[in-house]
Amino acid sequence: MKVAFYTLGCKVNQYETQALEQILTSRGHALVPFHAPADAYIINTCTVTAVSDKKSRQVIRRARKASPDAIIAVCGCMTEQPHVVEEIKRKYQNVDIIFGTHNLHRLPEFLYSALIDGRRVCELSHTEGEVAEGLPVKRASNWKAWVTIMYGCNNFCTYCIVPYVRGRERSRRRNDILQEIDALAAGGVREITLLGQNVNSYGKDLDEPERHESFAALLSAVCERTAGSSLRRIRFMTSHPKDLSEELIEVMAKYPSVCNQLHLPVQSGSTEILRRMNRRYTREQYISLVEKIRSRIPEITLSTDLITGFPGETEEDFRETLELVRMLRFDMAYTFIYSPRVGTPAAADPDQVAEELVKDRFGRLLELQNTISREKNEACTGKTFEVLCEGVSRTNPARLTGRTEGNKIVNFTADGVCAADAEGKFAKVYIDAAQTWSLEGRALEWEES
Ligand code: SAM
Ligand code: SF4
Ligand code: F3S
Repeated sequence: MKVAFYTLGCKVNQYETQALEQILTSRGHALVPFHAPADAYIINTCTVTAVSDKKSRQVIRRARKASPDAIIAVCGCMTEQPHVVEEIKRKYQNVDIIFGTHNLHRLPEFLYSALIDGRRVCELSHTEGEVAEGLPVKRASNWKAWVTIMYGCNNFCTYCIVPYVRGRERSRRRNDILQEIDALAAGGVREITLLGQNVNSYGKDLDEPERHESFAALLSAVCERTAGSSLRRIRFMTSHPKDLSEELIEVMAKYPSVCNQLHLPVQSGSTEILRRMNRRYTREQYISLVEKIRSRIPEITLSTDLITGFPGETEEDFRETLELVRMLRFDMAYTFIYSPRVGTPAAADPDQVAEELVKDRFGRLLELQNTISREKNEACTGKTFEVLCEGVSRTNPARLTGRTEGNKIVNFTADGVCAADAEGKFAKVYIDAAQTWSLEGRALEWEES
């Protein structure tokens, strides 16, 4: 069969699409782009906000319209909510397969049932206690890889649907993770990102003696084992501020292969809103954590997530967020408008903020953050950064693109260098201009092959 995938949402979903792709290609099926004719279209959905839901639905409709006879399969986080599954079954009569996030390995079986028996399949298992090891992943590149270290989330932030659709925290065993990373390093991978909704609570659900293996200890083991290999950059996400330990800051400072970059979602600058969000830290605790990290690792690049319009947010609360953003000067922020998710405590809060107020606050926050991001990027001009080349720039085929250790995007020229040879290689790039979301420059030299 020719199979096309469309993936919405976070890296967790992208990683799982790679696993699904591997399952199908290892059985002889071919992958084709989503816009090409295919026998089956598989849509891996996200439901973190109403906007994600809307996009997921649009893609389902688009696939059906483009190809009335193909099999349409829907999976991912949207399908883990019973009311959404009912809606998909009712409204999208022509969706052939609906399957959840816990039974990815059964996709071939579902496809055969739909194809051969013409049977509509809806399989949602909730055996979330297990971590399915040995599920091979079709890596999108041979120089960059994500490695899931844990699944699910226990935090139950009051606005968030993720713990309901992804289940409780399940850590992978340390040896399985290390073996996967050994194989990646041996295969020439240059950069890995350790993935989990809250990597800082890694190991807490494991049995003795692994229970005492902190995330910092795992990260340190990864660095020790891969020292001197082709693997030169190690990132991780996401870190919950309440669980970020001093031990982790020390490991980050000690090992040069751990990138000086941290995504540390704050969500709000108001202690009262943070309490209502069940984030379990105060504004002051967050600020002192950032100060501690910056004093130990001065060159660190920091990014965050921010939500505007959480139920009960007053103008005063919002100004505290603006003030925190002005004070901490994040390099980058993902800004969200609060979106009520069915079944979460915040959605039932009668104190929802009026839409016009939320839009106005969102605009002000975005403007402030954009100014800061631009200023931070402007401060990079005239300097030289090591950039891991990712290939040709999407916006200008005459330029290459890549990322700095701080995860900033750099679009650059490189005289006489062919993109295919440059991909996955490190270059020293001189920065001569800055945009809000990216840097521009020219390659001065490349690493030896
Ligand atoms: N586990 C990560 C953490 O706690 O930082 C984040 C995971 S979540 C997929 C990514 C971001 O989506 C959150 O940090 C939050 O800012 C945003 N988000 C989650 N639920 C939301 C909601 N109901 N409305 C608006 N934004 C939301
Ligand atoms: Fe959602 Fe909070 Fe878990 Fe992040 S930590 S996935 S925001 S519940
Ligand atoms: Fe979306 Fe699921 Fe990730 S809801 S953000 S794809 S964990």
